[in-house]
Amino acid sequence: MASSKLSIYAFLLWLLWFHVFPPMDAQLMWTSIYLGSGNSQIDLWTQEAKGCACPWNRTDQQCACCVSEGGCHCGKNAPNRCTQCGLEEHCNHMCNVTIISSELMARSGKSFGQIKSPSLEGPDACWYTFIPSSTQRVEVQIYRLVNAGKHNGTSCVGGFLQLAGGPEPQYSQTDNQICGSNERYAPPVVFFADDGLATLLFQITEKTRRSQFLAYFSFTSINNSDGLGYQPRGGMKLQNTDCDWLYQDFACNKSEQEGNSCVLASPSYPGVYPPYRQCKYHITTSNENIQVRISFTALLLPQNCKTDYISIYQGSTTSSPLLTTLCGNQRKTLEYYGLNLLVEFRSGSQKPPFDYNGFVATLKFSERSLTTEATTTVHIHPRTTMSNLIFPMNESITSTPETSSCDILISGNNTRSGHFDTREHEWHPICRLVFQGRVTDVVHVSFFNYRLRTPSCKSVIEVIDNRIEDKRSIIDRICSPILKQSRDQDYRSAEPTFLSTGNTMIIILKRSSAPLSTNEAEFLAGAYFFHDEQISGTMQPNALCDVKFNGINSPLAGMIDNPGTQHLYWNIDGPLSCRQQFIPSNNQSITIKVQSIENMSKEPNCVTQCGDNGCRCVSSSPLKNIDHLMLLGDNNLNIACLCGSFQTEGLPVSARTWGSLTVIYSVAYYTWTKKGFGFSASYAFNTDTICGEHIYTVHSGEIVMKNLTPPENLNHFYQQSCTWTLHSNVERQLELDITSEQNRPCTAWNISIHEYSPSPENQHLGELHHIFCSRDNHKSYLLPWKLNTVVIRLFTLSRTLPQFKIKWRSQVVRANTRFIGAPSAAPNAVSSTDYLEPNSMSLLYMLLILSKLCFWCGPSGLNR
Ligand SMILES: *[C@@H]1O[C@H](CO)[C@@H](O)[C@H](O)[C@H]1NC(C)=O
Ligand SMILES: *[C@@H]1O[C@H](CO)[C@@H](O)[C@H](O)[C@H]1NC(C)=O
Ligand SMILES: *[C@@H]1O[C@H](CO)[C@@H](O)[C@H](O)[C@H]1NC(C)=O
Ligand SMILES: *[C@@H]1O[C@H](CO)[C@@H](O)[C@H](O)[C@H]1NC(C)=O
Ligand SMILES: *[C@@H]1O[C@H](CO)[C@@H](O)[C@H](O)[C@H]1NC(C)=O
Ligand SMILES: *[C@@H]1O[C@H](CO)[C@@H](O)[C@H](O)[C@H]1NC(C)=O
Ligand SMILES: *[C@@H]1O[C@H](CO)[C@@H](O)[C@H](O)[C@H]1NC(C)=O
Ligand SMILES: *[C@@H]1O[C@H](CO)[C@@H](O)[C@H](O)[C@H]1NC(C)=O
Ligand SMILES: *[C@@H]1O[C@H](CO)[C@@H](O)[C@H](O)[C@H]1NC(C)=O
Ligand SMILES: *[C@@H]1O[C@H](CO)[C@@H](O)[C@H](O)[C@H]1NC(C)=O
Repeated sequence: MASSKLSIYAFLLWLLWFHVFPPMDAQLMWTSIYLGSGNSQIDLWTQEAKGCACPWNRTDQQCACCVSEGGCHCGKNAPNRCTQCGLEEHCNHMCNVTIISSELMARSGKSFGQIKSPSLEGPDACWYTFIPSSTQRVEVQIYRLVNAGKHNGTSCVGGFLQLAGGPEPQYSQTDNQICGSNERYAPPVVFFADDGLATLLFQITEKTRRSQFLAYFSFTSINNSDGLGYQPRGGMKLQNTDCDWLYQDFACNKSEQEGNSCVLASPSYPGVYPPYRQCKYHITTSNENIQVRISFTALLLPQNCKTDYISIYQGSTTSSPLLTTLCGNQRKTLEYYGLNLLVEFRSGSQKPPFDYNGFVATLKFSERSLTTEATTTVHIHPRTTMSNLIFPMNESITSTPETSSCDILISGNNTRSGHFDTREHEWHPICRLVFQGRVTDVVHVSFFNYRLRTPSCKSVIEVIDNRIEDKRSIIDRICSPILKQSRDQDYRSAEPTFLSTGNTMIIILKRSSAPLSTNEAEFLAGAYFFHDEQISGTMQPNALCDVKFNGINSPLAGMIDNPGTQHLYWNIDGPLSCRQQFIPSNNQSITIKVQSIENMSKEPNCVTQCGDNGCRCVSSSPLKNIDHLMLLGDNNLNIACLCGSFQTEGLPVSARTWGSLTVIYSVAYYTWTKKGFGFSASYAFNTDTICGEHIYTVHSGEIVMKNLTPPENLNHFYQQSCTWTLHSNVERQLELDITSEQNRPCTAWNISIHEYSPSPENQHLGELHHIFCSRDNHKSYLLPWKLNTVVIRLFTLSRTLPQFKIKWRSQVVRANTRFIGAPSAAPNAVSSTDYLEPNSMSLLYMLLILSKLCFWCGPSGLNR
């Protein structure tokens, strides 16, 4: 019998040992599985081999005695054994079994059990599928392996045991596979799977006489308080990534109020982590003064930091400045400030005996005390350092006698936003205000009040953009006499603001008349703001608050929120509208998820209506008079507009687009004291090629829309305007075949077939020939002879992603032979070379040659 071969008694001895004396290293954890009493027990479910009534003959006392909670007799074929209730039919051959948590619980009252594989003759395989409930994770503990492959130093050969998650599990050498010819694991090798359903596969690929393993399994609660439920918590898993997460301060704060702080953990913690992984945990805060405390409560990695380590970066990418690297078992608490931090976890190859289980860290956010900075917005530095630092060369500036000038340095290292006023400083004929930001900052300055008294430009204000060292340009020059008082009748709206191109801006105030009294003095006052373009998008010129994020160089994920909190907005008394635009690059899409909206004025005359085609603001008065938040696609296509009575239960509202996506924040009447409404949204540039290639020069092929995992929130909208150009340099007749199994309204999505237009605007869409709607199910289109280049466009605005297949093929003719019956060159036919871009020439020559070989390029080309 299998049990004796595996020397179950020996196991039990050390199983007991480990459960009575918990493991020394508390970081390794597994669910303790032990039942019954005393160490004379035969196995998990069999109390004694003999001495109890046989279920089939009550007077016969020769049968095994079962553990009272959950043990059931194996029956006639194995009178001396018991097993877990519910699994009786697998008593003698526990192979290819599906174990459903709820059923196991109902039958045996237990959420755990044991798997003892039959003795297999390789090559062969057994699988075990576990179906947990939604609040459980699957845990497998492996204690014993016999003749199950070998580890050759990098991977398993000849056989393995692997736990893989998901309905279509992948078994791969770059995942956690364990193997060995005669292994006893104490502590056990512990795997966790968190994707719902999980399958344990025992696969022997070489010839063996007897291959076997022993494991325990558990459906472990995700809120297990002993740490077994640990997994990333409070964060957001980033779509299309293996193991990347986003943690946002406000979300963590919220979850903390509910009693759970945010938790980062390596995949499948506290089980063994998988090999060859790079997991990125992005941490974002809503302002620079928020301190992030990362406490590594558990850490167990190999000692040398070469292949398995954790790196923390100040910024959002791995090319940002490296703050620290951790490995081994140095638990630590680290504190940083910053809008973006990146925690990167990397693992190398597998490391027998498979007991490195990664890390767990908790996150805490707290505000830095601002008392000192709020009152002293400027810092005066000795002139000598300043002149060396900022004014190395220009005569007109350095020629001023040193004694008669002052320099005021305002550093973006210390304060990100504030007021300045030259009256707070000692009077000098020349004062320089130097705003110096961090490397990725630009400086934004606005003047609220100034007074220059002397006639004919004897006093002057100069605004200088100091791009890099010796590249300076004067942006503006204000001559005396002039008086400006903010908030007087003439200046009700936003002030002109000055924006630097680099991280430094210099403002020079030259005064020619010494003041008789402070009241009369010439002065300048305003506000400034350091804007980090790496994190908050590229500022757009001539605008107070418009930014752009380009998918190529922006962080791939982050947060945005409402503008209007910086001092620069102090002077605004009227409407405020800000555009934050996201532009994905070619093979990206952008997802924006509006997570929260606060304090939006409850206009009774505007309601938000959401349907399959997005959300709309339905209002009786013009939208500009109403606070609202909009998500717009390309060409100002409305995807979502949220206003007035919009209630938070509609949130989150999200959109994923393959063209640009713009968030417009509009406050009908902004004042510094009332401010506008608040919102926060997360964004992520997804790498996806769902729109596929854009130009096809092959003569036949197909385009199929890939599937995406559906979003969790109801109000998630897809907007696509994908185009595909089918191009040929030789004369042809195109036949298109479009099928779809969906039955959706034409307005949800449709595919249109156009002539190619050489003009680049409107995506090269020329004259329209056909429109396919999903209700058509299947249509074939035969396009006119010699319409060699066509553009197919998919247009989507819907909650569901379209599903369809487009096939095309071409009839071509030998270069100088005419097709019988085909018309000769049409009078107004455009020479096909008009469509060519110079560098595609050689490709088309190749095509020309190919086309000579291929008279009828049939569907054989489809399955390339
Ligand atoms: C039940 O077991 C007893 C004792 O072994 C035996 O005498 C008896 O014949 C059995 N009865 C049946 C119906 O098999
Ligand atoms: C278990 O199922 C797999 C296919 O799913 C099969 O290849 C294998 O032989 C089965 N194992 C046994 C022992 O029946
Ligand atoms: C181990 O086996 C894998 C897969 O067969 C192979 O690619 C790799 O080169 C082997 N490594 C060594 C060190 O032999
Ligand atoms: C865990 O969750 C389950 C179901 O949601 C609940 O019944 C149980 O009390 C929770 N346990 C703890 C320790 O919070
Ligand atoms: C999070 O909580 C901390 C302390 O409770 C607070 O200082 C901080 O401002 C909060 N952050 C956000 C974004 O709410
Ligand atoms: C110094 O700056 C002024 C503008 O302030 C400019 O016109 C002049 O060319 C600069 N001189 C040098 C030497 O760079
Ligand atoms: C800001 O901090 C950086 C790095 O700590 C330093 O190099 C730079 O000199 C500081 N800038 C100012 C103006 O203090
Ligand atoms: C995406 O496109 C860029 C440039 O267009 C290219 O460098 C990059 O390799 C592409 N990435 C993928 C995953 O195709
Ligand atoms: C919303 O209003 C409340 C009360 O006036 C205020 O405490 C809170 O900070 C406001 N929230 C935002 C995001 O402006
Ligand atoms: C095609 O779809 C778009 C948006 O989904 C819609 O605006 C347009 O009206 C549709 N075309 C037709 C002919 O229905």
